This record gives sequence, structure tokens and C-alpha cells, in this order.
Amino acid sequence: MSDYILENLEHYFKMYNKSVRSPKKFWSQIADENFTWCQKWDKVLEYDMQEAQFKWFLNAKVNITNNCLDRHLANSGDKTAIIFEPNDPKEEAQHITYNELYVRVSKMANVLKDQGIQKGDRVCIYLPMIPELAVSVLACARIGAIHSVVFAGFSATAVSSRINDSSCKMVITSDGSYRGSKAIDLKGIVDEALENSPSVEKVLVVQRTGTKVNMKEGRDIWLKPLLDAALANNVAQVMDAEDPLFILYTSGSTGKPKGMVHTTAGYMVQTAYSFKNVFNYQQNDVYWCTADIGWITGHSYILYGPLLNGATTIIFEGVPSYPDFSRFWQIIEKHKVNQFYTAPTAIRALAKESLDFIQPYSLESLKVIGSVGEPINEEAWHWYNTHVGGKRCPVVDTWWQTETGSIMISPISFVTPTKPTYASLPLPGIQPVLMDELKNEIQGNQVTGSLCIKFPWPSMARTIWGDHQRYKETYFTAFPGKYFTGDGALRDEVGYYRITGRVDDVIIVSGHNLGTAPIEDAINEHPAVAESAIVGFPHDIKGNALYGYVILKEVGEALNQGNLAKEINQLISDQIGPIAKLDKIQFVSGLPKTRSGKIMRRILRKIAEGDFSNFGDITTLLNPEIVEEIKNGKV
Ligand code: WT7
Repeated sequence: MSDYILENLEHYFKMYNKSVRSPKKFWSQIADENFTWCQKWDKVLEYDMQEAQFKWFLNAKVNITNNCLDRHLANSGDKTAIIFEPNDPKEEAQHITYNELYVRVSKMANVLKDQGIQKGDRVCIYLPMIPELAVSVLACARIGAIHSVVFAGFSATAVSSRINDSSCKMVITSDGSYRGSKAIDLKGIVDEALENSPSVEKVLVVQRTGTKVNMKEGRDIWLKPLLDAALANNVAQVMDAEDPLFILYTSGSTGKPKGMVHTTAGYMVQTAYSFKNVFNYQQNDVYWCTADIGWITGHSYILYGPLLNGATTIIFEGVPSYPDFSRFWQIIEKHKVNQFYTAPTAIRALAKESLDFIQPYSLESLKVIGSVGEPINEEAWHWYNTHVGGKRCPVVDTWWQTETGSIMISPISFVTPTKPTYASLPLPGIQPVLMDELKNEIQGNQVTGSLCIKFPWPSMARTIWGDHQRYKETYFTAFPGKYFTGDGALRDEVGYYRITGRVDDVIIVSGHNLGTAPIEDAINEHPAVAESAIVGFPHDIKGNALYGYVILKEVGEALNQGNLAKEINQLISDQIGPIAKLDKIQFVSGLPKTRSGKIMRRILRKIAEGDFSNFGDITTLLNPEIVEEIKNGKV
């Protein structure tokens, strides 16, 4: 029995205990047995929690694309690596084999080199969810260029600031993109961004929509002719274990986005290991993660994790609501998807729709269903388990972060018994702890606290690009000697973790420390309520009072808002106490959210305070138009 694959609960505990007793031995065995190295390491780990310095697999040499591509060719060259499912269901899907992907990545790698990109250069990739996005990412990794993928829904300002922060030399984009019924002029956005981004020398343009674009002489080049002329093989650049693989920007609670830097070997080892075990991927399975490659979920669990395991992974260009709300279910049936991984925000949106959208489709192929991005509430968990998983698929509620690189706390499919709303147990190699306000580690079970990780793990971000001080201060100072996640969690009677939400989402009302999450849970139990968010606003007597934004399941119910408000406060009063009652309730049709589904409480807080200035760049939101509606409806 290979210890790489966790077979049952007993095996999990054996490996977990081993990983805590001797983490270096644990990780070095996994790294040793399951990857192709140009040269092995001479030391597993060197670290300093105070200074936030981490090095894994010191002096090892490797290229991650050798492990994603080349090593699969001998036995699985004809296996499908990527299934591309276009936005428009009438457009044919593409099946790209490992052989074909190898050729496409090699050609692209050669093009990048010809265009002057060298090891260590930063390349901004601003593409829709099309195969060229995967190919571009892998081609960068092939030659040692550092990819910085920017989600193709971000505005010119957001693109420009990300390009400038890491002074990218090149942008890879497309003429346009399709998302639902809309076509977006990506090239136009890049042109605007580049007015303020002088570091960019070349722009490679993929043709996707065929819309007319401006091509700036000497800067912009159509990609297709370059690829056609390029050689079909490429020898991968030998990378040091700690050479940066990519930068990915994540929004901080204040200020400019943080360019999280991930390095090569540790990221490779842990994304591969976690993918295989959490999803129980088997040789001929078809795996689908609905995230965008512009986020860490897409990096680790659409591309690297699956390809490292020789999996078949779906890239879906569209959205769950186009042409209608059956799109996800139709794709699962069409490609006989075995593992499906999505976000609570998508689950809630789909659960709001009629079951008529889901029932005509066979979801029999599914074996495992997963969730990521925010706490999944009880109602959504049960809906997902019942209507998507048919109560036979483990629901893997995976907790992790852009910063952690890989899944940290999650059930292992068919190994860890699941419990609704619980991310359950840490993966082997991960040592979570709960901390109290006095910065002491909380022992025992049935406790709550701030979630920290007390020992380094291979796929952790190494720094914030250009600002190591900020990295240190954000993650390693609140609880000295530990990595602070920013999340709160509880540990139940058997040691299962439930992530309760960001601990900065805490409001002090009349001296009482109120977490937003339990209050929102109480509100959401009202049968008329679909979703809610609460924030604090200044109050003469209480210090802060609570302002609730509530989305109703049916708009007609807004008619008796007065009664509803009373009932909602009664629920809160019953479940948490009168102290947590809302002073103000505003019924809204949506909440401002980030692309990963997180509520932008900062904006809601400002509106509740009556301060309509400086919302920041709201174009990066999933639904920027909602801000105007909420402003106008302020109570
Ligand atoms: C934050 C990280 C990790 C990829 C997607 C988001 C929240 C994430 C869960 C979960 C409860 C979760 C946390 C975390 N979160 N997964 N299963 N249960 N909360 O990446 O944008 O870096 O956000 O998302 O608050 O800190 P991210």
C-alpha cells in the first residue's frame, strides 16, 4: 500500500500522526515517491516563523510541467487532459489529449522565448476560460517565467495596478470573451490598462470572438501565426525548488491587493497530494471544478493538481445561468462528470431556482461533490447533498486560502465521515490550532477561537511580491510563531473543524463581541429569507448597532416588510439574544460580492454609516451594479 493514497480512516490517522511527529520525513517521502525530479533536495525544510522565511526541498531541481505533461506521455499520451466546454452549448466541446497539450505548451513556450521572455520575467495573463489560458500558464512555467493571471472580469484599473505591482513585461490576452449572453472587449480593456503600465513591451493576442480590435504597431501581435511557426517540442527550464512559479493577487481588507508569491516544488507536491486524496480521483474519472483559473482554486484544482495526477479536467468558459439555470447539470450529464467542485454562492443561487432545471438531467456519474470559498450554510449543504449528490456522494467542504496554495482542512472522500457545514479534519501535514484572545493555544474540544497553523507546509505562499514586511505583519505577528489565517473556527466534540468566518467580521455592540456569522445564520432560518449580511454602524449609546441587509426568496414578500422585520428580530432574539437584534433592516435584491463569493462588508459598512464616498474600485466586484441599488434604498 502506497502511503500517498489514504485508504481509510485508520490509515488517515496513522499518516496524520506521522506527519505531526516528523513533518519533514512525511513530506519528503511523498515528494520522493511521486514526482520526477532533475535533482533531489539536500534538506527538506528551513524556516523562521518570526521572520516569515520558508524554504522547502532545498536545492532540489525540478520543472512542474515535466510533472504535469512529459511524464504522462509514455502511458497516457492519448488520454484527455483537458475538456473545453464553450460558453455556447451549441459550440462543440474540445478534447485535448496529453500529447496535444504537450505540443501546444511547447509551442507556446518557444513563442514566449522568441518574444524575449526569460526565466524570472513576469507575464500577465488576462484571458477568458479557454484552452489558451491553460496553455499560457503552463508555457510560462515551462520556461520559468512567473505567471500572474488576472481574472478576465477585472477592470482596466485593476489590471493596470496588478501589472505595475510586479512590472510585467508581457500581457497575453484575447480579442474578446464570451460570458453568458455578453461578449466582453478584453483587448480594449488591456489597451486602456496599458496607458498606465509602461513595463509591458509585448501583447500577445488570442483570437476568440473575432471582434475587431486595435493592434498597436510594435507591441501587439496575433498569437496564432507565431504558434503555427513554432517548434513542437521544448526542453523544460530546470527550476530551483524555491524559484517563484507564480504571483496571484488577493484583496486585502484594506489597501492595495497583495501579490501572493508561490514557489515551485512545495506547491507542486502539495497540490498533487491534496487533489488525489480529497477528490479520490481514479484513473478514468472526469473532474470538473467550476472556478476561474484567475483564482487560486483554478490554479491548484483546475490546472496543476489534476494535471500532476494525469487527470481529465474540464475548463468551462461560461456561467451557471446561461442559456438557463440547467447549464451545470447539463454539462455533468454530457461529460459524465465524476467529481464536481464549486462554491456555496453558486450552490445558493442554483438552489433558489426551480428543481425543474435539475431534474431532467442524469447526475448519476457523480461520485464526489466539493465546496470552497466561504462557509457553506446548513440549508445549502443539504440541498447540494440531496439534489446534486443524490445523498450518495461525499460533500467535501474544503477550507483553504490563496495564501495556503492547497486545501488544508477537508474531508478525504470515502475516508472521513462528513458532517454538514464542517470542513472536518486537517490533511496530513497540516497542524491547525485555535487561539484565544490572550494568544494562548486552546486545548481540548468543543471550543472556538482564531484559526492558526502552527507548522509550515510546502505550498504556503512565501511572501507578498515586493513587500515582505507586509507578509510578515499580516500573517505572522498577531500570534507570534504561528501563521494566522484571519478566520475563526470551532472544534467540535470529536475534533472536527467548522470555519465560522473572518474574525475581522466581528462587531462590538454595547461591549458584546458579536460575530456576524451566527446572527446571519439566525436570520437565514426565516423561511422567507434567501441570504443576509449584517454590519455595524456607529450608535450613540451602544457604540455600534447592527444594520442588516436581507435578500428575500420571493420579491412579493417584500410587501409585508414590517412584519418580516419583526419576525427576523424575534428569531435573532430567540437564538442569540436581544443584544443582537437589528436596529435597521434593508431588503435588497443582492449583496456586493467578490468574485470568490465573499460579501464586501466594507462597502455595506460605508452605506450603513451613510458615507457614500470612496467605495474603492467596485468594478472588481461580481455585481458592481448592486451598489447603486443598495445606496438608493438605505434606511
Ligand atoms: C478565505 C480564503 C481557497 C480558495 C477560494 C477562496 C474562506 C474558503 C472555505 C470553507 C469556510 C472558507 C475563508 C478563507 N473560505 N473556503 N470551506 N469554509 N470558509 O480563496 O479568496 O483566498 O479566500 O475564504 O474565510 O480565509 P480566498
